[in-house]
Amino acid sequence: MSVGPSEPLILGIESSCDETAAAVVSGGLRILSNVVASQVEIHRKYGGVVPELASREHLRRIVPVVREAADQARIQLQELDAIAVTSGPGLIGALLVGVTYGKTLAQALHKPLIAVNHLEGHVHAVLLEAHAAGRDPRLPAVCLIVSGGHTILYEVRAHASNGARLFSYNRIGGTRDDAAGEAYDKVARMLALGYPGGPIIDRLAAHGNPSAVRFASAKMSGGNPHDFSFSGIKTAVLYHLRRNPHLQAEIERRQHALSHGERAADRLRALSSGETLDLIASFQRAVVESLVARTLAAAEELGIRTVLVSGGVAANSELRRSFETESGGRGIAVFFPSRALSTDNAAMIAAAGYARFLAGERSGVHLDPSANLPLA
Ligand code: KG4
Ligand code: ZN
Repeated sequence: MSVGPSEPLILGIESSCDETAAAVVSGGLRILSNVVASQVEIHRKYGGVVPELASREHLRRIVPVVREAADQARIQLQELDAIAVTSGPGLIGALLVGVTYGKTLAQALHKPLIAVNHLEGHVHAVLLEAHAAGRDPRLPAVCLIVSGGHTILYEVRAHASNGARLFSYNRIGGTRDDAAGEAYDKVARMLALGYPGGPIIDRLAAHGNPSAVRFASAKMSGGNPHDFSFSGIKTAVLYHLRRNPHLQAEIERRQHALSHGERAADRLRALSSGETLDLIASFQRAVVESLVARTLAAAEELGIRTVLVSGGVAANSELRRSFETESGGRGIAVFFPSRALSTDNAAMIAAAGYARFLAGERSGVHLDPSANLPLA
């Protein structure tokens, strides 16, 4: 790796949803530490993120998480060149914790503060790892950000400015209703598979027949052809369960197991009939087909040969496989982050902040978080 010890050191701080995270990244691409304190155990019993609990937990974790990131990177905070913090979009109370702490730290250490859009962080999660591996995704790219909170397509371009590389983002489509990860979580809830739903559905789908249940592909009349819709697929699962009341008994058995803390994939699989595994596999196939087809169609229409995929759902094994298979013949190169950088983390915030740091961008003590911050 070409990064030397004199490269700028950026501390990233992320607290937009249910992960309190801090990371130290050198030269924009060497991760010295990447600490993530997940709150999943706290939100699990509610089947989703409870905003008040999230804020309270961020408050409890932010100081030790930042200290841990500095310790693991073997640096003193004084050695940092800048602090990059997620300023939105996300849960406002959760964002406030990171932004307030980031501002305070920057002020106390006399270091520049850089505001980072969480979605830009997801784009940089892919770029950071590709660059670190010596691969340089050719821009422009189409980036699919697909998580529990977002399903959006951006066109990503790079421009040179005063020797720095600036990025610009153009939103070309997005979900009209549920985010894909949200659909995974809701379907997992209907089927009593625990929370979050993505990883368990990913595991169980491998044991079912994805062609067993047919889901009519979401009909979206008019509007933007690059939009997604997942609420129809989710509702189709609900109707399927209503039409097949005999599946209720096993749902209750899994519910019982979950309430006793039994949520290992093998245990839940043993409590699932072949019919349910088929339903799970078919649901996943419908979601993955829609994500892959629409993303590649957008790239082709724009004449773009690079696709970046990021966000929690980017960890999905069928999504990765399907993008690989479908892109090959079309001459499109697809890049994914590692599973660790797919879900929310602060290394991606530090990497996005690094580009802005080089471009001379600075935020001050008046930086406010914004729940709906658009990426532009
Ligand atoms: O990016 P993330 O950590 O948080 C935000 O939502 O911003 O993503 C979490 C989402 C959840 O909905 C979870 O069910 C989904 O990502 N997820 C997956 C997988 N791993 C996590 N979905 C499908 N397959 C997976 N392997
Ligand atoms: Zn995210």
